[in-house]
Amino acid sequence: MKVGRSSLRTKLILSYLFVIVLGGILSLVVGSRIIRDTLLTQAQAKIRYDLSSARMVFDGKLSDIRDVVRLTAARESLRDGLAKGRTDILRRYLGRVRSENSLDTLNLLAADGRVLFRTVDGVSAGDDMSPDGLVRRAMARQAVAAPQIFSREALLREGKDLAERAAISFLPTPRAAPPTGDRETSGMMLRAAAPVLAEDGTLLGVLEGGVLVNRNFEIVDLVKELVFKDERYKGRETGTSTIFLGDVRIATNVRNERGERAIGTRLSDEVRRAVLDEGRTWLARAFVVTDWYITAYEPIRDAEGRIIGILYAGILEKPFLDEAARVLRTFALVAVPSVAVLFAILFFAATRIVRPLRLMAAATRKIAQGDLSHTVEVRSRDELGALADSFNLMTARLREANARLMEWGTTLEKKVEERTRELREIQDHLVQSEKLASIGKLAAGIAHEINNPLGGILIYSHLVLEDTPPHRPHHENLKKIVKETTRCRDIVKGLLDFARPKDPEMAPTDVVDVLKKCLAFTERQALFQNIRVEKDFRPDLPRLVGDGAQLQQVFMNLILNAAEAMNGHGTLSLRAFLNPARTEIVIEIGDTGHGISEEDKPRLFEPFFTTKEVGKGTGLGLAISYGIVRKHSGSIDFRSEAGQGAVFTVRLPLQGRAA
Ligand SMILES: Nc1ncnc2c1ncn2[C@@H]1O[C@H](COP(=O)(O)OP(=O)(O)OP(=O)(O)O)[C@@H](O)[C@H]1O
Ligand SMILES: [Mg+2]
Repeated sequence: MKVGRSSLRTKLILSYLFVIVLGGILSLVVGSRIIRDTLLTQAQAKIRYDLSSARMVFDGKLSDIRDVVRLTAARESLRDGLAKGRTDILRRYLGRVRSENSLDTLNLLAADGRVLFRTVDGVSAGDDMSPDGLVRRAMARQAVAAPQIFSREALLREGKDLAERAAISFLPTPRAAPPTGDRETSGMMLRAAAPVLAEDGTLLGVLEGGVLVNRNFEIVDLVKELVFKDERYKGRETGTSTIFLGDVRIATNVRNERGERAIGTRLSDEVRRAVLDEGRTWLARAFVVTDWYITAYEPIRDAEGRIIGILYAGILEKPFLDEAARVLRTFALVAVPSVAVLFAILFFAATRIVRPLRLMAAATRKIAQGDLSHTVEVRSRDELGALADSFNLMTARLREANARLMEWGTTLEKKVEERTRELREIQDHLVQSEKLASIGKLAAGIAHEINNPLGGILIYSHLVLEDTPPHRPHHENLKKIVKETTRCRDIVKGLLDFARPKDPEMAPTDVVDVLKKCLAFTERQALFQNIRVEKDFRPDLPRLVGDGAQLQQVFMNLILNAAEAMNGHGTLSLRAFLNPARTEIVIEIGDTGHGISEEDKPRLFEPFFTTKEVGKGTGLGLAISYGIVRKHSGSIDFRSEAGQGAVFTVRLPLQGRAA
């Protein structure tokens, strides 16, 4: 039971907790993704912008060089010196221009493209530069500037120093493209060429010069300074810029593990393919030398549009990732206590929900054990409250039903007892009746047998009495014999009447007439001298079909009994009326006599039942009356209390009454 109880709450808590934790984890994962992506997208937008700034710096440098060359070529002194062939002066002058403007080369060419002199000391001249694209365009009177690849031979022609500065050994780095040699010997030059023109516009020569980008950190550091403003993250520079020759870093501020500029390291294969081979701009995270960067690469093209290198700008990815992680940490820091608070709320809520259920379960148990008086005390106004109310209602109904059942049980018991008693009484009665019937038969048989001899005795004793004068001593004895014999005859007659009653002779009969006749009989008798008679006969009572003589016998019996019960003093009341349904005539004969005791009541109609002293009553009066009334389809009963008199009621139905 305990497991089931706690498990509902546990289930509730666990399922909610599952949803919360799952939701938390999901939002954490999705949130971190979104934060990261947003930050990285921001970083990419910035780096795209930074790359165009780097391009501006790069192009600015190129146009600076072009401006120096163009303006110098346009100087009058140069024109004059060239026209007059004053090479030495020009060479000194141009040497000064070169060093003042930090150019690596500055060469003066004749109008046919042959090198007149190079301003770098100890370098030969006289070679023909007319096949060079830039020189040719300058010869066509254009001032032009472009980046350009110089081979080692070309660099050597410009000076041994330059060739040495250009030479860069490859350094292996993780993820870089597989090496195709061990060093880079070419150089990237930012070159400009401008025509030297006479006043009439004839071409006097070409001024041509440039800057070697290899190991020249001016541009990349300018980019860093202008664009990234020397931002640092944990002691490291976040912004970097690089110029590639082909796929080799020739000028960069990306540092290797030792903190040196990562010159000679090479581009990763995929970037190389996208930018060098396909000429696309690359915007993505990329592994640069030692770290992941958010990078932007775009091709550097020479005057002919060939891709000769790459311009790169990149920012460390780590600050962005750390920022994302920091946001996430903050989020988690908020989330963990929130989950704890939610858990606490959940715990209390679940307990609150489960409590009424628990009460109800306990109540059910109590009720199952038979305690129907138990009620559930849930006061909440929600479904559980309603459930508890229904529950209490149900137990109340159960209680009622139970009480009713129990009540039925006891009444049933009582009824059964009553019926059993009645049955027993009926049975006793039956046995008694049976007994009486056989006694009756026996008596009737005897009565019949002694009736004739008794008749003879009576006749002869009468005759003897008539013949005996009164003064004779036997006269009195004979009188006694006649009297007692008459009495015997009456008893025998009564017995015979009871045992073999005569069939009534039915005729229209006026009941009131019969009653009046009975009263006429009584008037002369001594017993009735002190009895007051009250009569209440309803006028116009219908006549009924009956045997007037037998009915008279019945009423006589009842009247005599009443008079005997009153012992000659009291009131005799006679009533005759129609019942309310007008179906029978009711005759009531009441007295103010001694009444009937409770123990006598059941035996009143039994033949031979009498309370009168021996020789006074036979106990057949009521039994015979009962038989006669039954023959008339009527009924006879009585009501009485001891000492309160008695009322006998005879009901005679009118059906089949005389017309
Ligand atoms: N009106 C009455 N008041 C009180 N007791 C009565 C009344 N009528 C009858 N009884 C009782 O009923 C008994 C039986 O009456 P029933 O008429 O059958 O016989 P009886 O009067 O004793 O004798 P019998 O009628 O043969 O002279 C009587 O002995 C008497 O105890
Ligand atoms: Mg009687």
